[in-house]
Order: sequence, then C-alpha cells, then structure tokens
Amino acid sequence: MPETAALLTPASIAGAAYIVAALLFIMSLAGLSRHETAKAGVNYGIAGMAIALVATVWLTFAGAWGSPQATTGLILLVVAVVVGAAIGLWRARLVPMTGMPELIALLHSFVGLAAVLVGWNGALEETGMTGALLDIHHAEVFIGVFIGAVTFTGSIVAFLKLSARMSSAPLMLPGKNALNLGALVAFVVLTVWYVITPELWLLVVVTALALALGWHLVASIGGGDMPVVISMLNSYSGWAAAAAGFLLNNDLLIVTGALVGSSGAYLSYIMCKAMNRSFISVIAGGFGIAAPSKGDAEVGEHREIEVEDAAEMLKNASSVVITPGYGMAVAQAQYPVAELTQKLRERGIEVRFGIHPVAGRLPGHMNVLLAEAKVPYDIVEEMDEINDDLADTSVVLVIGANDTVNPAAAEDPGSPIAGMPVLRVWEADNVIVFKRSMASGYAGVPNPLFYRDNAQMLFGDAKQRVEDILRAI
Ligand code: TAP
Repeated sequence: MPETAALLTPASIAGAAYIVAALLFIMSLAGLSRHETAKAGVNYGIAGMAIALVATVWLTFAGAWGSPQATTGLILLVVAVVVGAAIGLWRARLVPMTGMPELIALLHSFVGLAAVLVGWNGALEETGMTGALLDIHHAEVFIGVFIGAVTFTGSIVAFLKLSARMSSAPLMLPGKNALNLGALVAFVVLTVWYVITPELWLLVVVTALALALGWHLVASIGGGDMPVVISMLNSYSGWAAAAAGFLLNNDLLIVTGALVGSSGAYLSYIMCKAMNRSFISVIAGGFGIAAPSKGDAEVGEHREIEVEDAAEMLKNASSVVITPGYGMAVAQAQYPVAELTQKLRERGIEVRFGIHPVAGRLPGHMNVLLAEAKVPYDIVEEMDEINDDLADTSVVLVIGANDTVNPAAAEDPGSPIAGMPVLRVWEADNVIVFKRSMASGYAGVPNPLFYRDNAQMLFGDAKQRVEDILRAI
C-alpha cells in the first residue's frame, strides 16, 4: 500500500489529531454551558489538550529523532513542561474559589506574554519568504505583538485590582478616551509602516505602546465593571493565541485561539447586557465608571435582627428566596445554606435561589458553590426568572450579597451603578441581610437596602449565622 503510506506523513497524522482535539474543545465549550454537563466538558477539554500536546511534540521532532538537536530540544521541552506543570498544579490546588478570577487574570497575562515572544521570534528569525507572503508575515508579527502586549499588561492590572494590591477605583486620566483612540490609530499607522519598511525599532515602539495601552485600558475601569474586563481579557488572550498560531503555522492554535476569542467576546456581550453596559464602548475600553462620590455615608437608621427572631420569621414564612453573593463564598456558607434549604422545604416552605449574573467574583460562581453543596438545580433561578416573584415572597435572605441587591442601581440615576439590573429583593415582605458590617460591596457604592423598613441586618460571618439559625430551627 505505498500510496496509503505516502499519505501518512507526520503533518497529515498531526493534522488529523488536531481535528479531533478541536472537536473535543468545541464539545468542552458546549459541556461547560450547563451545570449538568460541566464535568464532562472539563474532561473533553483535558482530553483535547492532551492530544494537542502529544501531536505537537511529535510533529516537532518527527523525522529528526535521535539527532543531537532533537534530543536537546526534547530535554528542554520536558524540563519546561515539568516545571510549568508543577507550578500550575501547586497554585491550582492552593487557590481558594474566591481567588479564581485573580488566577485566571494571571494566566491570561502568560498567554499575552507568550504571543509577544512568539511575535518577536517571528520578527528575528529568517523566514525565507518573499513578496506578498513576507508582507503578510510582517503584519502578523505586528498584530500578534500588539494584541499580546495589551493582554499582558491589561491582565496584570486586572490581577492587581482583583487581589486588592491596587485600588479598584478607576484611573481617570484627562482625555482617556482620546488616549486610547490615539494609541489605536498609532498602531494602524505603525503596522503599515512596518510592512513597508520592517525595521526593528518600529516593533520596539509598538510593543511599548501596546504595553501602555493594556495598562491604561484596565486601570481606567472601576470595580463594578471588572467582570466584563475579565471576560474581555479572556477574549483578547484567545486572539493573541490565534495570532501566535498564524506565526507558528499551527492550525490548532488558530482554531483554539478563535474559540477562546469568540466565546470570551460572547461572554463579554452577555455580561454587558446583564450589567446594562454598551458592548461597543467596552471593546473600545472607554467605559470606566466614575469613582463613587458619596463614600459610605449613612442614609438612615438600620435595624438588627436576632438569630431566634430570624428563625421564627423563617418558620412562619410560606415562601423564601435566598440571594447569595461574594460573602457566601468567602464564608463558605453554602453547606449550611443547603442544609437550611432542606430543613425549610421539609416544613413545606417553598425555597428558591435568585442568582445575579455577576454575583461573586467569576461567572457562575454562585452556581458552582450551590452545586458543590448539592442544592437541587431546579430551585436555583436566574435573576430574570425570579425578579417578578420577589414581591410575593415572604422572606428574602441576602447572604453576603451587596451590589447585586442594591436598589440605588434601579432608583438613583446618579449612582455609579445606575442602570445595572439588580435583584429587587426590597419588594419582598421581609429581607434579612447577612453580612459582617455596614460596609459597601465590591463597587464601593453605599446600599440603601440596609435602611429600608422591611430590611433587617444579621451581623456576623455568614456561615456561623446560618448555622445558628439552623440550631434555632
Ligand atoms: P459584593 O457587592 O462584593 O458584596 C459582598 C458582601 O459580602 C460585602 O458587602 C461583605 O460585607 C460581605 N461579606 C464578605 N465576607 C463575608 C462573610 N464572611 N460573611 C458575611 N458576609 C460577608 O457581592 P455581590 O453582591 O456578589 O456582587 C458582586 C460584585 O463583584 C459586583 O460589584 C460585581 O460587579 C463584582 N465582580 C463580579 C465578578 C463576577 S464575574 N461575578 C468579577 C469581578 C467583580 P461585610 O464586609 O460587611 O461582611
């Protein structure tokens, strides 16, 4: 079968493996879009990545096995993979769920840095290309370095902001939109220039410009809009990987980068809709909100409730809605919350959960925690599904949520979070707010809910307070 053997070249075998890997990545994304199939989605992703890795290594060394260069290259590669994997495993095992967004931001920065290095390597290596092909190569180098550098510094700022190493308040440089737009125009001009005369100093300039732009884009965005920034950087890291794929002539990297880029962009779009922000202005990076001007000023008297009274109120309720937020994750209160849910349902009380799309610190954060604690999926509802029922609810338990239940978003046009859809918990007969103090949430905006006549504060760590209520019931 000489013809068949001729078709089985290393490139064609790797190409077939790449198609399988790409399909697994698509199945992974599809799986991750539903709780029930999320685990299978992760497994498809792992399988796809394992196939991609083996095929790429094999393709790189095929035909050169045994040569001194191949042996040295392979040793270097194995050492790099082992060191990287060890650090990755170590960090991933240590990171708490609430630290996930920071970790993701940091990982995005690596993708950006890798794209910059691949771009620079593409500029320095001898390609043997001529004519239009060489022009395209130069454009790829420039675009890859630009997207990679924006992703790199943007992700580092996101990491610093999310881990509270940098203030989450927006940096308000005068004419910030003009600065961003100017940088984009300069990038286009420099790209054309580089294609015509590919001099290295132009690449140095665009690298510096993109590093500064990435930093500025994310620094100008305020706390409340960070979820959109993370998904936007996720998208940018995908495009950076795709650009690197073009330079390395690797189809799978192009496909994978495009999948990450487009799914990240779609997620940003969903987030923008959920938070009532303009998608176009997000992509342009000019949508940073103004820093809140009011500080934590009190807007009335708040009332506190004792554990026994809260338990009594719950026992007498006909319907209860729980709206969890970041504080539930910090306190790891999902287990007693699940137990409380079960106890109340056994008493014939209807219990449901209302999940805000940006509750917590990463998309789906609350859903993951509740699934971990085995809360049945069918009582966990999205904000839009439950909002109209809140007015007919006896008791709402706000557990460690703040911005996502802030009436100022709906009622105060001057509020920094004005227009962001929120869970209208204040429409219920009674609201019990579980938190440790009167402090504001992530966006730094005071919450008038705490001073409403039908709202009472139950101060303390959310886990301990829910456990106290369980005991009292
Ligand atoms: P937040 O507005 O962040 O408020 C959480 C509240 O939990 C705080 O006010 C805090 O008050 C309380 N808390 C903290 N630890 C607690 C504990 N151990 N026990 C009880 N309470 C505790 O929460 P949210 O309503 O979930 O809103 C999320 C915010 O994060 C939004 O502004 C969103 O834009 C932003 N964000 C979201 C994401 C994604 S993708 N979901 C990513 C980045 C940022 P005390 O300190 O008084 O206890």
